[in-house]
Formats: sequence, structure tokens, C-alpha cells
Amino acid sequence: EEIKVFCPATIANVSCGFDVLGLALDSVGDEMIIRKTSEKGITITKISGQELPLETTKNVSGVAGLAFLEKSDFDGGFEIEIDKRIKPGSGIGSSAASSAGAVWAMNELLGKPFSNLELVQFAMQGEKLASDVAHADNVAPAIYGGFTLVRSYNPLDIVPIPTPNELFATVIHPQIEVKTSDSRKILKTNITLEKGIQQWGNVGGLIAGLFQNDYDLIGRSLQDHIVEPIRSILIPGFDKIKANAIHVGALGGGISGSGPSIFALSKGEKIAQKVAESMKETYKNIGIEFDIHVSKVN
Ligand code: HSE
Repeated sequence: EEIKVFCPATIANVSCGFDVLGLALDSVGDEMIIRKTSEKGITITKISGQELPLETTKNVSGVAGLAFLEKSDFDGGFEIEIDKRIKPGSGIGSSAASSAGAVWAMNELLGKPFSNLELVQFAMQGEKLASDVAHADNVAPAIYGGFTLVRSYNPLDIVPIPTPNELFATVIHPQIEVKTSDSRKILKTNITLEKGIQQWGNVGGLIAGLFQNDYDLIGRSLQDHIVEPIRSILIPGFDKIKANAIHVGALGGGISGSGPSIFALSKGEKIAQKVAESMKETYKNIGIEFDIHVSKVN
């Protein structure tokens, strides 16, 4: 018995929501085949597209799968095949796609013994392996779909947020690899009250905008006064890409996850495509190689 699943790429943080907000991309992601076996344990049989470890305890999908099995009363195991299309270190939730995809598929194969919240907890073990921190802002949208808020980590509380119908994301990936663990080390561990006020105003604004289908409010709320000023230094052409995207009609944008990908949100696919053209041109002008995606948020 086997199942083939699409494992979406995700944009974590979404500017103002460091470690708490995330969204799933409808048409960018990996594919996985998960097979039920009578043998116990997790075996990764094949990975195409990227060089990644096949050893269960060194692969995020293996580690997430082991966390799943540990809590399950199923006494068999699973085989995993991954067609990896999301590049590791690109900032669109490569590790999360594999961790979340594995446990989501396993749950389907066993007749859904676990809730989405429990699946997020298993998948977070994969994130811990990948980035030293079990953050949930990529795995939650990968499992729930759409936009999600991690209202609390302890206890874990995930809130699915409705996604306006015409919300599209454009994501450009300059061809450098940034490890999440490295880009977390450069962050300061304290913030001023002044910055806190700006930030939670924007988080509230973004959530309200999503509920009210208020695209302008969504755009005004896509600001990050805490993380972006530090991390954007590592990203070539960041300010230009963002400014030009907004100039051609994007609602707003920022760093996707821990970077180096840069995202912009737009109302409607047409504008999202225009934003893609602007991003491409900006990088061509400064001589930077890139990948680019346009996708509905879903
Ligand atoms: N919230 C995490 C970070 C996301 O920014 O480090 C990593 O994809």
C-alpha cells in the first residue's frame, strides 16, 4: 500500500511574524511516495533531485517519521521516496516539505489516527534536525495548508487563518545557500519595547487583513522591524528587489523564512507575474543567478 503526496513549499515569518506566521504555496513543492511495510522502522529508499542523506536519523523525513512511529500503535514501518524539487537552504521550507509530507502521508496510510496538531509536532522534529530549533512556522502551513499562526509553542497551539482568494506569492531565490541555523545565530535575542509595538501592530494588522480580505491592510502590515534589517544584509539586491516589486504593484514583501529567497504578495496572478518580471530584471541588471516561482497561496 502506498501513497504519492505533494509537499508544498512554504514562506515562514511573512515579514512581521518571526517563528509564528507561515503560508503554503499551491504549486511549488516536492513529491514523495510513502509505502507501508511489515518491517519496523523507516527506510529512505530513494532521493532524486538533490544530494541528501539516505540514513534515517540524518534525514528530516526519517526523523519526523520515527517521531510518528514512536507515538503510533502500528507495528510495521514505512519506506520513503523523495523527488526533491525545493533546494535546501533556499528559504522556502525545503526541510519542512519533507518532514511534513512524510508524516502527513503516513497518517493517511494508517487511516488518520493523528490530528494535524500532532502531525506538526512530529514534523517539528525534522526541523530540529535541520536548523537546531524545532520551529513550526513552515511545517504548520505545509500540513494545514494556507496561512497559519503558531499562537503558542508551549503548549503548541496552531491557528489556521483564512486566505483571501486572490492572494498570490512571487518568490525569487538568488543562487546562494543560507543555512537557517547560521541565519538564526546573527539575530539579537532582545528587542526594544518600541520595536515590539511596531511588530505586534503589524501581526494584528496582517491577520485582520486576511480575515477581512483587505489587501491594502495586508500590504501595510508586511513590515519587519526586527529580523529583516539584520538578515537582509546577507541577501544580494534585497532592497532593490523589494522596492521594485512594490513599485510594479506588489502589496508588500520581505525575506522568505531565513532567506535568501525574497517574497512578495500580490492581489491577483497578473500582478504577481508582473512582480516576477520586475524581480528577474533587477537580478539580471546586477548579475545574479536565480530561480523564480509564482504561486497562489493555498
Ligand atoms: N522562522 C524560521 C527562521 C523559519 O526565520 O529562522 C526558517 O525557515
